[in-house]
Amino acid sequence: MKPRVLVTREVFAEVLDYLERHFDVSSNQADQPFSPDALAKALSDKDGALTVLTDRIDAGLLAKCPKLKVVCNIAVGYNNIDVKACSDAGVMATNTPGVLDDSTADFTWALILAAARRVTEAEAYVRAGEWKGWKLKQFLGADVHHATLGILGLGRIGQAVARRARGFEMNVLYHEPKRLPADVEKACGAAYVNFYELLSRADILTIHVPYSSATHHLVGAAQIAKMKPTAVLIHAARGGVVDDAALIAALRRGTIAAAGLDVFDNEPALNPDFLKLANVVMTPHIASSSTATRRNMAMLAAENLVAALTTGKPPNLLNP
Ligand code: DGY
Repeated sequence: MKPRVLVTREVFAEVLDYLERHFDVSSNQADQPFSPDALAKALSDKDGALTVLTDRIDAGLLAKCPKLKVVCNIAVGYNNIDVKACSDAGVMATNTPGVLDDSTADFTWALILAAARRVTEAEAYVRAGEWKGWKLKQFLGADVHHATLGILGLGRIGQAVARRARGFEMNVLYHEPKRLPADVEKACGAAYVNFYELLSRADILTIHVPYSSATHHLVGAAQIAKMKPTAVLIHAARGGVVDDAALIAALRRGTIAAAGLDVFDNEPALNPDFLKLANVVMTPHIASSSTATRRNMAMLAAENLVAALTTGKPPNLLNP
């Protein structure tokens, strides 16, 4: 008998075809997120699962899924999975590193340019029929070229963002808890500074750290207060790293000039006060969402699932 697996949300047809060659597949192609109880019920007789960031995998769920051997997340971030609880339950957990770095970096640049040069605000103005003529001081924004880019978190995605800054001839600074080797700094053209120097020197601050209890509200009122009043804050990492209430207060007061955000506290139920602000560009957690990259992410997760249930050695195992 083939192992039984659950695909918790809609995926590409070729990913399902691939899985069906190996497994007895149940899939939620209607794409309605499972409630925690419904997910536990659907997984109670399964050997493996292809999950996404809306699926919470924790000790309570694992206790109800005695056959489960592996959970393969279609994302590089995995804060929806309690990895320790998986290890305690003897369940493998995997993610999809590497395949989404460039697309996420590209999108970070879309947010940088849109927020600094007020693209979405100006577009809304044109669409609303408000454009009556050219003006010298219309939608004045901040230059990106030759500005100082501060990168909080110079991992794979942060590095891809830094490499793209070369074309804009920027001064690139970064902060990490531990300074990176000189060859990495050189390849990125990035100089190490401490956290508070990064905050105070950046014209554009972009955040690329994973979410965990250690990074919860890492950028809050005290940190934003160190930034320049002309600064732009970009966040396409994970909701929870920025304190959105503090950011809203800062954007309202002019503590900083603008923000470009792809991720939010409690998404998708974002703080409604964001909607009242013109100086914020917002997108619905789509930084990795190019057709090719989302397909590659889903296929890599499927390959992890096949490897886990056939060899016990998935390539992107989080809890070896
Ligand atoms: C990831 O891979 O962690 C992304 O946030 C998913 O879109």
